Amino acid sequence: MPRGKRLITPLYADDSRVTLFRGDRLQLLRQLPERSARLIVTSPPYNLGKSYEKRSTLEEYEQEQRLTIEACARVLADDGSLCYQLGNHVRGSELVPLDSLLYPVFLESGFRLRNRIVWRFGHGLNASRRFSCRHETVLWYTKSDAYVFNLDPVRVPQRYPGKVAYKGPRKGQYSSNPLGKNPGDVWDIPNVKANHPEKTLHPCQFPVELVERLVLSMTNEGDLVVDPYAGVGTTAIAALLHNRRAAISERDAVYVGIARQRLELAASGRLPTRPMGRPIHEPQGKLARNPFAAAAKGAEDSMERRFTRA
Ligand SMILES: C[S@@+](CC[C@H](N)C(=O)[O-])C[C@H]1O[C@@H](n2cnc3c(N)ncnc32)[C@H](O)[C@@H]1O
Repeated sequence: MPRGKRLITPLYADDSRVTLFRGDRLQLLRQLPERSARLIVTSPPYNLGKSYEKRSTLEEYEQEQRLTIEACARVLADDGSLCYQLGNHVRGSELVPLDSLLYPVFLESGFRLRNRIVWRFGHGLNASRRFSCRHETVLWYTKSDAYVFNLDPVRVPQRYPGKVAYKGPRKGQYSSNPLGKNPGDVWDIPNVKANHPEKTLHPCQFPVELVERLVLSMTNEGDLVVDPYAGVGTTAIAALLHNRRAAISERDAVYVGIARQRLELAASGRLPTRPMGRPIHEPQGKLARNPFAAAAKGAEDSMERRFTRA
């Protein structure tokens, strides 16, 4: 159970389960004791001119991110993890992958890359002059080689659970781990669009299950999880659901209000979330049937008849 007694406080306090700070991320990070967080999970603005950001040059953007990353380094425990979720910045018609842009900044701030997790999802804008973008990345960094990593709580079902060893001392025995397999570094998790049970008015919130996998594998109960760019509070929700503490900052008052409501619902077990590990929905019925298939088959058959006759 989390050590804290108060559910939400506006400033960091040792006895709060969630610090929900309204303001700039550096002001929150300065409040947190050095090496106090076991995990920092965040998704900064992509400098696209969305409603919640001011578009700047890439140099200015990189400098702003450097300040955040350096402040995170101070706050993170020596065995802690930093997960930075990033997509592309768009410059004219050209894409700039933000994880590549910021990689040198992480190295200069003392971080080591553990995984570049590909988060693959099904929905987004349909492109006509390039392939539609259907993935983003989570860069998982640690400060040292001795870091918390619990694989068992996030294992996924084996593909061939009935497989047996065919030689050696374990010949004939089941060869796969009964707890499931390592989920790998490509994660298929639906993004939060219109029909998702977690949808709020935020244009790009995390799915709770994405953060849950990070929280369960990179922290222990009672640990502190931080999100400097909190949006509607998804990181803190995942932390709370798994008995971790959280400290998050968001400068938009409307998003802070929504985060508060969601956290209160989560604390009382009433927040609707998509459960971790639920299979991706496969369309069924009329919508999944190709109305052009019969016509195409007819054309194919008549073509075959013509050639067979000739
Ligand atoms: C990509 S969104 C994060 C969404 C979040 N992961 C969620 O699940 O809701 C980035 C958020 O950072 C906030 N933001 C931008 N600059 C900020 C700053 N300097 N300090 C705090 N929050 C900031 C924006 O208002 C926006 O809600």
